Amino acid sequence: MKSYAILVAAGRGERLGRDRPKAFLALGGQTLLQRSALAFDRAPSVAGIVAVVPAGLEGEGRAQLAGLGSLHAVVAGGDRRQDSVRAGLAEVPPGFEGVVLVHDAARPFVDEGIIEGVVAAASDAGAALPVVPIVDTVKRLRLGEIVETLDRAELGAAQTPQGFRLSVLTAAYAAAYRDGVTVTDEAMAVERHGGRVMAVPGQADNRKITTPEDWAWAERHLLAMESAR
Ligand code: CTP
Ligand code: MG
Repeated sequence: MKSYAILVAAGRGERLGRDRPKAFLALGGQTLLQRSALAFDRAPSVAGIVAVVPAGLEGEGRAQLAGLGSLHAVVAGGDRRQDSVRAGLAEVPPGFEGVVLVHDAARPFVDEGIIEGVVAAASDAGAALPVVPIVDTVKRLRLGEIVETLDRAELGAAQTPQGFRLSVLTAAYAAAYRDGVTVTDEAMAVERHGGRVMAVPGQADNRKITTPEDWAWAERHLLAMESAR
C-alpha cells in the first residue's frame, strides 16, 4: 500500500533552547528536517512528502528538501501540533487510498523498517504507531502524593511515524475539532473516536530530540553510526 508522509517541523523548540526551531538545526551537516525527510524519501511505500514548517520558513524548508523526488508540498504549521498536522493533511490528495504517516521531524533516526512496519499495520487495522517499553516504574500522582503504581507491562511510550488510513484520520480530526479537544498525538484523536490503533515495535534510537541532553546523545549516536559503517 502507498503512503503519504506529513513531517511536522513547525514547533519552536523551546525546551532545546537554541536560536532557531530545532528541525532547522544541523546535526552532522544535515538538518533534522532533512534527515527525517530522506528516510521517508527512500522508503518504498512513500508516494509524497508534505513538510509542515514554521510560518515564514516555507522557502527555507523547500530549499532544504529540493533534491527529494517525493517532495509534494511545504506548508506553514499552526500554534498546536494538531494544527500543524491539520495543515499538512489538507495537502494530501483527497482521493488518496493509502496510509497517511505523521512523523516528528525531531526524530531524525527513523528508518525504513519502522516506516514500512507502520504502513503495513495501519493499512490492515486502520491505525498504527511504534511503541517502546517503559524502563522506569511509573506512578500516578495527586498533589505531590503517590496514589498508585501502574503495571509497566501494560504501558508503552509512543513514537512516530503514526500511520492511518486517510479516511480514519480525516474523520477523527474532524471530530476532535468539532468537539474542541486538544490531542497530544494523532492516535489520541482516533482512540476517542472509537477507532482501533495497533502497536508495532519502535526503536530506542528513534528518539525525539527535545532537550540539550537529547541533542548531545544525537551527536554521539551519529558518530557511533558513522564509525560502525
Ligand atoms: N510541532 C509542529 N507544530 C507545533 C508544535 C510542534 O509541527 N505547533 C512539531 C515539532 O516541530 C516537532 C514535533 O511536532 O517535530 C514534536 O514536538 P516537540 O518535540 O514538542 O517540538 P517543539 O514544539 O518544537 O519543542 P518544544 O515543545 O520544546 O517547544
Ligand atoms: Mg512542543
